[in-house]
Amino acid sequence: MSEHSEQKTPDGAAPVPPRLRQALEGIPSYKPGRPAAAGGPVSYKLSSNENPYPPLPGVLESASHAAASFNRYPDMACTGLLAELSEHFGVPASHLATGTGSVGIAQQLLQSTAGPGDEVIYAWRSFEAYPIVTQISGAASVRVPLTEGEEHDLDAMADAVTDRTRLIFVCNPNNPTGVAIPRDGLERFLDRVPRDVLVVLDEAYREFVRDERVVDGLELYRDRPNVCVLRTFSKAYGLAGLRVGFAVAHEPVAAALRKTAVPFGVSQIAQDAAVASLRSEDALLERVAALVEERTRVTRELRAQGWTVPESQANFVWLRLGERTTDFAELAEKAGVTIRPFAGEGTRVSIGETEANDIFLRVAAEFRKEL
Ligand SMILES: Cc1ncc(COP(=O)(O)O)c(C=O)c1O
Repeated sequence: MSEHSEQKTPDGAAPVPPRLRQALEGIPSYKPGRPAAAGGPVSYKLSSNENPYPPLPGVLESASHAAASFNRYPDMACTGLLAELSEHFGVPASHLATGTGSVGIAQQLLQSTAGPGDEVIYAWRSFEAYPIVTQISGAASVRVPLTEGEEHDLDAMADAVTDRTRLIFVCNPNNPTGVAIPRDGLERFLDRVPRDVLVVLDEAYREFVRDERVVDGLELYRDRPNVCVLRTFSKAYGLAGLRVGFAVAHEPVAAALRKTAVPFGVSQIAQDAAVASLRSEDALLERVAALVEERTRVTRELRAQGWTVPESQANFVWLRLGERTTDFAELAEKAGVTIRPFAGEGTRVSIGETEANDIFLRVAAEFRKEL
């Protein structure tokens, strides 16, 4: 018995735990990517799809300047950031909402649309926060398996819509497989979804997309009031640690996001760093181009080693290793790179520093010989 459970209440009765919502029972906990292992000769973290580059020019200065005033609350309306985003992406500020990372906004979207008795559809496997935020809302998850080719099965997802469906996540490109959805398929899908069901196009990795058949969600949202686009500063922009993302959606949805936002959730440091990052676009594009080049190299070399690698449009690659997944991850960690295994399924490996990618390629070549 724990020390706590032996305590008695003032009237001598046995303590009763506060009633918590049943919806929270059995909730899967979010598994963050393992940090780089300490103690080895070298160690790189390729487990969280982070950006290996330091902050963009001017960002650290803006953030440090904002840090000098952190005795004050931030601008709750994120006025400066919204104005910058509005100009940068050509969308009205009233269609924008910021949040504590795009995962924070995903949670707000659930709070805004779904509860017990409702359903939320998403592909599986996909971003592991979807089942968590769905379960917290009390709604039921409807998971539609990816196709053999690791693609969203959009026909099956449209078929899964019922009159209980309130929200559909479409992760494009998909985490953890990296596969992106071409425009025609996505448009056909959106045409099939009832107009009162919110479709969330999660484009956390949009900046890394090079396939011209993949449409920018911002084009689709304009004449579709049931489409919401999610973007983040965590990946290409390299601000993962500052927790800032944004949504673009028509008025009623954007307004719901403002209502459900944690007050002052986005710090002034994050707001100012995001503005400075948007103003540093040339450097951003250069870095993204270098990561895409590395992605191409890693994919090419893995295929040359004999692996089947889906065409990734993100800053990671996916190896479907099945039962060998955890063995591979252990070997990689011993060699100096931590990756993100999904036991029994496969592993996601972020594109990082060239040296880190080289270590991963060496591990993959070694492992391949044993298969
Ligand atoms: C598909 C997808 N969406 C959203 C996020 C969340 O990013 P953040 O909350 O850092 O903006 C991630 C992070 O891994 C992701 O992979």
